[in-house]
Amino acid sequence: MKETTNGHSNGHVHHFEEAQETHKDIFTKCYEFNQHTKAQSLGLYPYFRRIDATMGNKVVCRGETKIMIGSNNYLGLAQDERVVEAAIEATRKYGAGCTGSRFLNGNIQLHEELEEALAKFLKRESVLLFSTGFFANQGALTSLLEDTDAILCDRENHASIIDGCKASPAKTIPFAHNSADALRRRLKRLPPSAGKFLVVDGVFSMSGDVVDLPAMQKVAKEYGCRVYVDEAHALGVLGPKGEGTVHHFGLNDEVDLVMGTFSKSLGSMGGFLAGSKPVIEFLRHKARCFMFTASLAPAVTGGVLKALQLMQEEPERIEQLWKNTRKMHEGFKSLGFNIGTTQSPVVPILIGSEIKALQFAQRLFEAGIFATPAVFPAVRYGEAIVRTSYMATHTNDELDYVLETFARIGKELGIFDDSAYREGAKRRTNNGYDFEVQDQERAQPL
Ligand SMILES: Cc1ncc(COP(=O)(O)O)c(C=O)c1O
Repeated sequence: MKETTNGHSNGHVHHFEEAQETHKDIFTKCYEFNQHTKAQSLGLYPYFRRIDATMGNKVVCRGETKIMIGSNNYLGLAQDERVVEAAIEATRKYGAGCTGSRFLNGNIQLHEELEEALAKFLKRESVLLFSTGFFANQGALTSLLEDTDAILCDRENHASIIDGCKASPAKTIPFAHNSADALRRRLKRLPPSAGKFLVVDGVFSMSGDVVDLPAMQKVAKEYGCRVYVDEAHALGVLGPKGEGTVHHFGLNDEVDLVMGTFSKSLGSMGGFLAGSKPVIEFLRHKARCFMFTASLAPAVTGGVLKALQLMQEEPERIEQLWKNTRKMHEGFKSLGFNIGTTQSPVVPILIGSEIKALQFAQRLFEAGIFATPAVFPAVRYGEAIVRTSYMATHTNDELDYVLETFARIGKELGIFDDSAYREGAKRRTNNGYDFEVQDQERAQPL
């Protein structure tokens, strides 16, 4: 009697030929997966660091206090007592969860209040909440487009946009990062019959770049292309009152749809789309990741409502965020670090080599600084960074300590002498980068 490779008896030798054809096991890749164990064996694994307590801009990890420069809590509202109290109050009134979709049983008064407050704040007709920002991007990109349409997608857009593009029936046309010329070249080739949708981050999550919205929007308009801006890292950061990139550039009337998240400046989780009433009503009845998922928990909704109110009532938070941001831009540059083209509180320290970026982050952690490295595929291969981001609540002493420690460890690791460090910078500004190169490189991550 012969056996299949799965170890199941076939009963008859007669079936041997059939049994030779091994069925593919979808788990094989999991058994062979070792990217994380390589970094772990070197003692350089930077992910899933456990946080045992959070005190604003400091966290405790296994008994040691670290200055947090790896979070998106830009305004320090995540731990604000008033936000926490609002979350508790909402929980008392409505319970721990809504146990259903907004569409059916999960629509509470706080959801509607938050949508109204956001619409007023952003000067938009209508807003629709999503359970995450990821879903908001997914919802827009999968519901609004058809298979004859095209999404014009900046190459450095966030992963949730890339995944939304993949799930959309439309064709995705990537263009060189932040280049209105590249956008024009792509749009020129599309027929008038194709619906066109320009999708960009307002502030790019890894480089910290601000989108060149005035130029992009102008080109888009020439070609009848609708404009969508993901304000995840711009809300609470840019704009006169923290409304985001679109308001920062005074282009609210020119941008068709805006996406935002509550997981950064507003200190919680969840996302939204803001636009005209017909578009939002369409999404409310068509976006499957809105309709078929549980609505935002009462605690989240109550907390975000309070955070949104405080952000408007306490503009000094945004002022302080920018003071801290300027200090860090100047501080890193004067120390000789390469911070790319950032214009925001997201400050990447360009390293190049993945292993060096991991070493750097590990050494920082040991010195009491919580910063995260970003390696492929979060950034392009060979352009690893240590990503840092700043909060309104960081003190001068904390920021000075961060700069001193980066300088010391940077020298010890030879970052400044490394040609990869400079090469990384050169390649970042090479707008001719294309997806094919990235695909080849996919074969050789850490
Ligand atoms: C630019 C951008 N868009 C969307 C998202 C997704 O937001 P959320 O965390 O609410 O899912 C993020 C979060 O990392 C982001 O950085």
